[in-house]
Amino acid sequence: MAISRTEPGRPGLMYGRSVRLFARVRSLFVAATLAACGAAPEPRPSAPAAESPPAAAPQRADLPDPCAQQPGKPAPAPLERSYTGVAARARCQPELYSIMDGVAHSLGVGCDYCHLVPDFRAMTQRKQVANWMASELIPALHKKGGGQAGCGDCHAGVAKILGEPRKEPFAIEWMTTHLVEDFETKRGSPLHCKSCHLGNLGTPEFQRKVSLTHHLPTD
Ligand code: HEC
Ligand code: HEC
Ligand code: HEC
Repeated sequence: MAISRTEPGRPGLMYGRSVRLFARVRSLFVAATLAACGAAPEPRPSAPAAESPPAAAPQRADLPDPCAQQPGKPAPAPLERSYTGVAARARCQPELYSIMDGVAHSLGVGCDYCHLVPDFRAMTQRKQVANWMASELIPALHKKGGGQAGCGDCHAGVAKILGEPRKEPFAIEWMTTHLVEDFETKRGSPLHCKSCHLGNLGTPEFQRKVSLTHHLPTD
């Protein structure tokens, strides 16, 4: 289940665009905080994900920089460790928390959806998927309208986009009317079902599982 890495030197700047998207989400929902941490099923602990390269961390000029030193205040706490997935652009602890607020809001969940609160370090299946979405799925795609995808472009406030429990007809509809319709490959080629599922629906080649795999468009 661990993510093995085959592509060295992922372009960090591409992730920079999604950083601005995160920032936009954050500015919209700046009021959404830890209060969102309601009840959710226990995340399943799992093996830690493998390393992926760090992403660039530009900051939007019109938002206060959470890592800037404020006059008369103590310096923002430095990062306790570095990250390679969802939290890759964090430069200080306050920024880590604002990224987490944005992620929770984009998925419409509380912190405990992914974390075994209060042990935020424990690896869980959902943390692994979140890191995979940030470091594998998003860099492989481009929004047709321009720019890189953010979590909210697919999730729009819902974690289980494909239905809870997952419903096949709905999954097919969402994949057809959203994923393939709204996105293209990072070089601008159209997406096909087989770009991610290795075969077309109804063929023996069709693989249901995409998350945590390398079954992604490569051009
Ligand atoms: C969609 C899943 C998800 C949600 C929801 C989420 N997180 Fe995270 N969180 C992650 C991932 C992934 C990491 C990075 C872990 C890594 O790369 O090792 C992380 C890292 C962290 C860390 C650093 C842990 C460490 O290993 O140093 C803290 C603290 C944290 N999150 C707090 C929060 C808080 C507070 C919330 C709610 C506002 C929250 N998270 C919501 C997925 C999530
Ligand atoms: C291009 C579309 C797309 C983008 C962008 C995207 N996701 Fe997802 N994500 C999906 C799909 C599809 C699923 C499967 C949903 C389901 O099972 O209903 C999913 C599932 C997940 C899950 C597992 C939820 C569960 O309970 O099983 C997590 C966690 C997650 N995404 C986090 C993220 C985060 C964090 C981001 C932004 C860094 C992100 N996603 C961006 C499409 C996307
Ligand atoms: C950019 C990658 C991508 C493309 C292109 C794509 N999908 Fe998906 N699809 C996903 C992801 C991610 C999931 C969630 C799978 C998982 O949890 O591993 C998923 C899940 C599904 C599922 C649910 C599978 C199951 O039973 O669990 C169906 C059905 C599906 N897709 C059909 C399609 C069809 C039909 C197309 C073409 C119109 C398509 N997909 C195009 C990424 C993609």
